[in-house]
Amino acid sequence: MQTHNYDVVIVGAGGAGMRAALESSARARTAVLSKLYPTRSHTGAAQGGMCAALANVEEDNWEWHTFDTVKGGDYLVDQDAAEVMAKEAIDAVLDLEKMGLPFNRTPEGRIDQRRFGGHTRNHGEAAVRRACYAADRTGHMILQTLYQQCVKNEVEFYNEFYVLDILLDSDLTAAEQPAAGAPVRVAGVVAYELATGEIHLFRATSVVLATGGAGKVFKTTSNAHTLTGDGMALALRAGLPLEDMEFFQFHPTGLAGLGILLSEAARGEGAILRNSEGERFMERYAPTIKDLAPRDIVARSMANEVREGRGCGPRKDYVLLDLTHLEPAHIEAKLPDITEFARTYLGIEPFTDPIPVYPTAHYAMGGVPTTIQAEVLRSNTDVVGGLFAAGEVACVSVHGSNRLGTNSLLDINVFGKRAGISAAAYAAEHEALELPEGPATRVVAELDRIRNAPDGEKVAELRQTLQETMDAHAQVFRTEESLTLALETVDDLRRRYRSIGVQDKGSTFNTDLLEAVELGFLLDLARVVVVGALARKESRGGHFREDFPKRDDDGFMYHTMAYARPAADGDTEITLDKKPVTVTRYQPMERKY
Ligand code: FUM
Repeated sequence: MQTHNYDVVIVGAGGAGMRAALESSARARTAVLSKLYPTRSHTGAAQGGMCAALANVEEDNWEWHTFDTVKGGDYLVDQDAAEVMAKEAIDAVLDLEKMGLPFNRTPEGRIDQRRFGGHTRNHGEAAVRRACYAADRTGHMILQTLYQQCVKNEVEFYNEFYVLDILLDSDLTAAEQPAAGAPVRVAGVVAYELATGEIHLFRATSVVLATGGAGKVFKTTSNAHTLTGDGMALALRAGLPLEDMEFFQFHPTGLAGLGILLSEAARGEGAILRNSEGERFMERYAPTIKDLAPRDIVARSMANEVREGRGCGPRKDYVLLDLTHLEPAHIEAKLPDITEFARTYLGIEPFTDPIPVYPTAHYAMGGVPTTIQAEVLRSNTDVVGGLFAAGEVACVSVHGSNRLGTNSLLDINVFGKRAGISAAAYAAEHEALELPEGPATRVVAELDRIRNAPDGEKVAELRQTLQETMDAHAQVFRTEESLTLALETVDDLRRRYRSIGVQDKGSTFNTDLLEAVELGFLLDLARVVVVGALARKESRGGHFREDFPKRDDDGFMYHTMAYARPAADGDTEITLDKKPVTVTRYQPMERKY
């Protein structure tokens, strides 16, 4: 077992991780641990843009951006965090430009900007052009640009290293918790090297979690196979809370039946959603901004059209995204990738035929709770010294109950940068802790248990049941009944997971073993999603309860804090607490678009 010593260890090499690494490595000895090669990280799949009120093509300002973010998030956004993000957006884009990111340009040579859902001029008057973009591969360009900068700055990467435990100096998994205000610190992480099966200990003064989302909880998803919520699950298992996990975003335009993302930029460029009658149905649901309403509203409207019999195709189970009225040259220039996806995966020519689409699980609004400085919270008020999180793994909370498109690439840049600066500053002010006794005992025991299970349960079978259950019962529409069914299934799968087994017993590139571990993460997170969704008896943003269809600010205007606490049967149970929402300027109002 090798031990490595660093000031800062960053877990994850997507946009948030690499943006953090650029700051941290300039100030402190930094390592980045990634279960992938960095350029395969899921940031690369983000398409349409990164917003900032640059006002390059029309009047705009960061306050309108803040307001749109708060209203888009159905008022569950922490408004101080949203203000930080909208203000720092402008420098975040300019930083990337200086690093060499090839943004699309206006004829005058400025960074071009386009429309995206929920981004408006003057508090909702009309859609505004706020998204900076590089065709429909903005995430890809960000990832490549950040990686080039990391290479230039000699950031140390440990690729295909799976982090499987976070080491703290106090046991937060026990029923008895450290007193409020008592110091709790991170000591490092335990990682598994895919190539060799070797366990590595990373002792670090600061650790930054930047592991991305957990879309693979669902079957129909825009997320890569690797988006298994590792950082969230590790935090939960370490006794830390997860915030607002019941809020999951379903992106309206997944390729029907596949879930592959078709960027909202298509609608930003003028594409229209139509039902089987050819009707532009969003005119009924959001008369002012129509197809460019926030995603929760558009996804629900689409699902409603299908439920009311106005779906298309032989099973009437999708609607159509119509680009046929747009100039082919314009589509070719602005949306080359997604039009090619339609051709490749559905055999549809988007110049002449509308594309079948349906909502796809896209983004976790919830995650590991953090302060604006990216410090991880262990309660509503106490932070864990030296532990930071940024990007989709984190909940700061700038997205509230529904994220606006293009605020995610922004989030990773703004809060990734903040996390890197905070982590390096913490490392400069503190000595690293000694690792606790037997630091890898838990990890080794769990891997041995899975490897040695005779005739165990099959990973693929359990994962399929989980994902189908979540699609059927915890998707765009939810009820007490559907969520109870989901919870029963998830509980049963968690029981069966105790005897999970794998065929590959080896130590070289044992992806079989790691997929079993990842399934454990997904199961733990699905439980938190469903328990939170059952408890939230209202509808807000991405969480729609048909049995409680209205937002209820008197009863539920709070963040959910979910903890895994010891249960009588030796397992854990999810207990829920409340954290107040930070409201600065914008009192909750009815959301009209
Ligand atoms: O539709 C898109 O291009 C996705 C953007 C986002 O999730 O921010």
